[in-house]
Amino acid sequence: MKKKVLSAILSVAMVASLIVGCGAKEEAAAPAATEEAAPAATEEAAPAAEAEEAAPAADGELIKVGFAQVGHESDWRAANTQNYQDVFSAENGYELSFVDADNDNAAQLEAVRSFIQQEMDYICIAPIETAGWDTVLQEAQDAGIPVLIVDRSVDADPSLYETQIGCDMIKEGETAANWLAEYLDGKEAKILVIEGTVGSSAALGRTEGFNNVAAQHSEWEILDSQSGDFTQSGGQEVMESYIKSYSDFNVVVCQNDNEAYGAMDAMDAAGITYGVDGDVTIISYDATHDGLQYTLDGKITCNVECNPLQAKFAEEVIQKLEKGEAIDPITVVVDEAFVAPGVTSQYATTMSDEVLAGRAY
Ligand code: AHR
Repeated sequence: MKKKVLSAILSVAMVASLIVGCGAKEEAAAPAATEEAAPAATEEAAPAAEAEEAAPAADGELIKVGFAQVGHESDWRAANTQNYQDVFSAENGYELSFVDADNDNAAQLEAVRSFIQQEMDYICIAPIETAGWDTVLQEAQDAGIPVLIVDRSVDADPSLYETQIGCDMIKEGETAANWLAEYLDGKEAKILVIEGTVGSSAALGRTEGFNNVAAQHSEWEILDSQSGDFTQSGGQEVMESYIKSYSDFNVVVCQNDNEAYGAMDAMDAAGITYGVDGDVTIISYDATHDGLQYTLDGKITCNVECNPLQAKFAEEVIQKLEKGEAIDPITVVVDEAFVAPGVTSQYATTMSDEVLAGRAY
């Protein structure tokens, strides 16, 4: 009952976009750090009088949250899952039902349908792909269950879900390419890209952002762009095949750290040198602890962050919905970038032991 009332109210309760900084570990632990910009308001706020006020602690009931997670393809994903399990704990007033969809779209849709049947109070979806969500989102809405789209985005009617929380993947791609332009300073680039999961907003966005900037550099050539599925083995396989096909390249862009580890293994086996002192410049995304260790070691020259500690933003949204308060339609988790020692950049922080020490995931 409560969720049906809330859903009706909250479909008109989104008012503005909040941009939240969470580049560093300590920021991730604190709620809403910075409001950098507030794009135009889109819809009217919900009338407060119609909203139910009961928070979980008040009526003693745990709030039931179903989380349909992408899978366990990367270190980033493991950190993101752990973060949801920590934040949505019984201690904090939640009963979390967690499903690892193992990068399988059908399994993820089935998980959401099962959450609907189980009458969850809220459903969080980290969508594997952007496409194919309208029907199941409509089913959730018909059942009166508010849905939060988290981490990645969907290509669906926004009125079918309450909010989207995640990093700006297009901006991440642009940051990587802007850094490369600054680093190469007009020199030629023959670029190989190892993309993430096909159809995911993370891969689509990073590719689009990088290509937007690449289009302005006639001295750059993107030789190939294939998916490594955000996994280490995928990164290694794609890199091995690139090494067979291309003898002349000087930049490898890996769309996450695990792919970069695989690509480095493949280049090691082939005797190809990389890093600040090598023949090939590696760009990676995520900036996990191990990825930043490689950056500190000068193996990955630029690492663009994607912060996995996003559960607190989902929790804040749910708390607002519980109180009948207006929520933001989009929460953008702001990223920063890191470069190897000896490299300076207007786009990135130069790695140091201190920066690495502050990185928990
Ligand atoms: O959607 C976020 C991406 O998904 C991360 O970059 C990657 O590591 C993960 O698998």
